[in-house]
Amino acid sequence: MLNIAPTSSEDLPSIVAMEAHEDNKQYIFPYAIERHQKVIDNHDEYHLKLEDQQDGLVGFAIMVESDMETDSLEFRRLVIQKKGHGYGRTAIKWVKRYCFEEKRYKKLWLDVLDTNTKAQQLYLSEGFKESFRTREFINGEWKNLIVMTIVKDQK
Ligand SMILES: CC(C)(COP(=O)(O)OP(=O)(O)OC[C@H]1O[C@@H](n2cnc3c(N)ncnc32)[C@H](O)[C@@H]1OP(=O)(O)O)[C@@H](O)C(=O)NCCC(=O)NCCS
Repeated sequence: MLNIAPTSSEDLPSIVAMEAHEDNKQYIFPYAIERHQKVIDNHDEYHLKLEDQQDGLVGFAIMVESDMETDSLEFRRLVIQKKGHGYGRTAIKWVKRYCFEEKRYKKLWLDVLDTNTKAQQLYLSEGFKESFRTREFINGEWKNLIVMTIVKDQK
């Protein structure tokens, strides 16, 4: 069973190692450990660790409240190190419940690289819809991103 709880500083070395892993780093823009610590400390950012009773720490997620749109939550990051066991889908379902039922936001959104078709399939199957495509200069390179959204009444 997947347990989802706030990340603590002691978890960060393992989380930074997950981000740096070959299977993950091509799909995300890794944070330095200090930036992860800020996510833990900031009141408008949520750092969650995903732990399985047997497998231990299997991944993490980050959510960020928007200061521009008060009714919207950004699903900033999801990394599952132990892939293909349903942890990613379980985490997304948890985030949707948190966003719409607990916090009562009206919109949940994320961006995903256009090359990351596996994550896109997962997001689509969990009700996210493509909102628009954009091109951003990140870490010295142009990246094609797809912004995907769930709006409450369309859930
Ligand atoms: C994308 C990611 C979060 C998915 O997590 P996961 O725990 O492996 O996914 P799940 O086991 O919950 O599988 C969910 C769906 O993904 C798809 N999927 C899983 N493994 C797959 C694979 N090897 N190839 C293609 N699709 C796959 C399936 O559609 C699956 O649905 P199903 O179980 O109904 O068949 C994870 O692979 C990951 O961390 N990737 C690297 C970082 C990343 O891309 N993060 C998202 C950035 S936006």
